[in-house]
Amino acid sequence: MHLIIGFSLLKDSFGRVINYVRIAVTDRCNLRCFYCMPEHGNIWLNRSDLLSYEEILRLTNILGRLGVQKVKITGGEPFVRKDLMPFLSELTQIQGISNVGITTNGVFTEQHLDGLQKMGINSINLSLDTLDKARFHEITLRDEFDAVFSTYKALIDKDFKVKVNCVVMEQKNIADIIPMVELTRHSNVSIRFIEEMPFNGGKEHYEHLEWNHTKILKHIEDHFGAVTPLPFEPSSTSYNFKIAGFKGSFGIIAAYSRTFCGTCNRIRITPQGQLKTCLYDSGALDVRALLRDGSTDEIISIAIQQAVGKKAKDGIVAENTRHNHPVHESMATIGG
Ligand code: GTP
Ligand code: 5AD
Ligand code: SF4
Repeated sequence: MHLIIGFSLLKDSFGRVINYVRIAVTDRCNLRCFYCMPEHGNIWLNRSDLLSYEEILRLTNILGRLGVQKVKITGGEPFVRKDLMPFLSELTQIQGISNVGITTNGVFTEQHLDGLQKMGINSINLSLDTLDKARFHEITLRDEFDAVFSTYKALIDKDFKVKVNCVVMEQKNIADIIPMVELTRHSNVSIRFIEEMPFNGGKEHYEHLEWNHTKILKHIEDHFGAVTPLPFEPSSTSYNFKIAGFKGSFGIIAAYSRTFCGTCNRIRITPQGQLKTCLYDSGALDVRALLRDGSTDEIISIAIQQAVGKKAKDGIVAENTRHNHPVHESMATIGG
């Protein structure tokens, strides 16, 4: 990976510089998380609908030349796509891309950790919403807690930069919040509590989201006493805190309240090759069509710059101006 110091040709009309792309390599998943998709899963895309690895590599090269430095691989579950490792190896070698991370559910991940480290991939975000085996089954409809927790332990042992994503769900995993924070007592891990968003594949969302960022923080403070806020990292999705004497930290992602949009630095590529300039928009550019119709890299670059120029001010505006409103598609079809 080569480090290029901050320049970007991707800027929106509010002056925000885009240097982070989230790429979903598949819409498929081996779990059925309650907040992400229906019990029976989604209607999966055909292989030809997905961007091929070659197409993703070409697109990432273009984005690297436009100043993108950070890539997050998401899904669905990235490790259910065949030949992910050789693809990642090529991705890490793209000029300008200095940081490649993966968000994974951890079921198939452990066996690849040494290989990832060899490629220089050291940042893994692990989705884990409970430390209780029975609740894990209730939330994901699969009996994979042991595999995921084994991956968690291996990530810590191997000194990965680990962030655990825990979606806070009313009546499902509130009892897990304190034990999850406890994980930070002896381990250098960041546990991030995420507000539940409506991207669940069709179920009703709450009229009022009770477990929002304020309530999550209060719940933690009621138990541990006052916590110390860590300096806000620009473009971070999480507000981070530390408990005195604890080795790790915890964070809260106000993903539904959308309090961090002002410093947003990211765009997304969905599994079917749509460019989204906001998680809450309904798609800004059909990049797949351009990749397949003979468009040159230059034409694609200009189209991406134009789409980024129209990025909404924040996720609330993006949601209100989309044509299919309100949002309820599955996160797996967007990439999170
Ligand atoms: P790091 O850069 O490693 O801190 O990761 P990240 O927070 O950008 O990514 P991750 O894949 O771990 O996502 C964590 C949660 O934040 C998920 O629920 C995402 O859907 C949510 N998230 C990520 N980016 C955005 C965003 O732009 N807007 C909103 N509302 N939520 C987001
Ligand atoms: N609300 C909040 N977070 C979600 N994720 C998936 N669906 C939702 C939702 N409806 C999270 C997953 C994963 C990340 C990419 O997005 O837990 O960690
Ligand atoms: Fe799979 Fe992630 Fe969706 Fe859970 S949240 S079903 S792990 S894609």
